[in-house]
Amino acid sequence: MSGLDLLRRIRESDPGIPVIMLTAYGSIEGAVEAVKLGAFDYVKKPVDLEELKLLADRARENRLLRQELSYYRSRATRDVGFAGLVGASPAIRAVLERARQIAALDETPPVLITGETGTGKGLLARAIHASGLRAMKPFIEINCTALPATLMEAELFGYERGAFTDAKESKPGLVEAAEGGFLFLDEIGDVDVSVQGKLLRAIEERAVRRVGSVRERKIDLRIMAATNRDLEREVREERFRKDLYFRLAVIVLDVPPLRERGDDVLLLTEQLLKAFNAKYGKVVREISAPTRELLRSYPWPGNIRELSHVIERAVLWSRGSTLDVEHLSLTSPGSPPPPGPPSLPVPSHAGVGAADHGPTPGLPPQGIDLAQWEKSILEQALREAGGNQTKAAERLGISRDTLRYRLKKFGLRVG
Ligand SMILES: Nc1ncnc2c1ncn2[C@@H]1O[C@H](COP(=O)(O)OP(=O)(O)OP(=O)(O)O)[C@@H](O)[C@H]1O
Ligand SMILES: [Mg+2]
Repeated sequence: MSGLDLLRRIRESDPGIPVIMLTAYGSIEGAVEAVKLGAFDYVKKPVDLEELKLLADRARENRLLRQELSYYRSRATRDVGFAGLVGASPAIRAVLERARQIAALDETPPVLITGETGTGKGLLARAIHASGLRAMKPFIEINCTALPATLMEAELFGYERGAFTDAKESKPGLVEAAEGGFLFLDEIGDVDVSVQGKLLRAIEERAVRRVGSVRERKIDLRIMAATNRDLEREVREERFRKDLYFRLAVIVLDVPPLRERGDDVLLLTEQLLKAFNAKYGKVVREISAPTRELLRSYPWPGNIRELSHVIERAVLWSRGSTLDVEHLSLTSPGSPPPPGPPSLPVPSHAGVGAADHGPTPGLPPQGIDLAQWEKSILEQALREAGGNQTKAAERLGISRDTLRYRLKKFGLRVG
């Protein structure tokens, strides 16, 4: 076939493949036609190999960029608004209802999103942005845990050239970058006290000053913050500024833990099954009755993130179409504790002995001490991971930072 015919065929089978045409006698019409049909470029024969190589590199780069762009586009539209938030329980609906109200307003005081790790605080913040009037404006997220105080200040407020040794050029901060949209301060409880004061000023005065600058810049943005810490306690213990806390806590959305959302765990499981079936080419569609019971009664200390990891692993190892208890590698809180200390029920590595007597749903009659329970899980996870925090965190479906934070909270060894 002719070169142009071949080009058409390639475009039909995979429009992503970049095509460079080599034209024999430099017919301009042919070249124009080829570019119209989607050729990346054309070169005239005889071909200079160096030139061709450069062109091929450019084509490849161009393709990678396109792929990246379409990834971000699909990511941006994937969890548009509240549609991506699964949940029908009264507990979550109450929160979503208030979040929708907030999203509908253009101007509100800062919004503080609280809740345990993995409950969906980040997702909720993005939903508020995506379904509000400022959806087309930026949503700038900053993880406050990741940065030491001096860097944090420079990141947030920007700096002028020469403000410090490395400041070769001036740079706007994230607060300026979020102009017109949202600034989302994730893990606000980890912000250093010295930065807290400046943050408060920025919120109150709606203005920022770059490090090393005398000029105030007016800003128009909405602020959301999230934390899984008990900020009131942090305030009492003087680790968090009271005035900033009060400024942030005018509107609080407290995202309930998964164990308080009733059958939502089943809805979420169904959705996760679909996603992981597609990802791994599996066909797990049924959830056995004992599995439902176990999903409902397990306390999910890592919440939806933990659920997601558990289901992913189950789908990955699945062979049939039914999700069974042994796929989950969980133990219901009511089942007998593993040998040795702690004496409290903790998830066992091997999974529940469901084959013999089925999981025992619900709490033991004497009840459990949740904090004690969590502590013993942390200890167990660490032990089983041979003291490796990253591995232990992975097994618990939480981040390493969260693990460390929790270890500290319980006075356990933080390496
Ligand atoms: N209601 C929900 N429906 C569907 N997926 C959810 C829901 N809530 C949370 N998720 C998913 O669970 C995971 C954890 O959510 P997210 O990261 O928002 O939690 P988080 O509260 O910010 O956790 P952390 O405190 O550890 O930062 C994400 O993959 C998120 O997409
Ligand atoms: Mg988060």
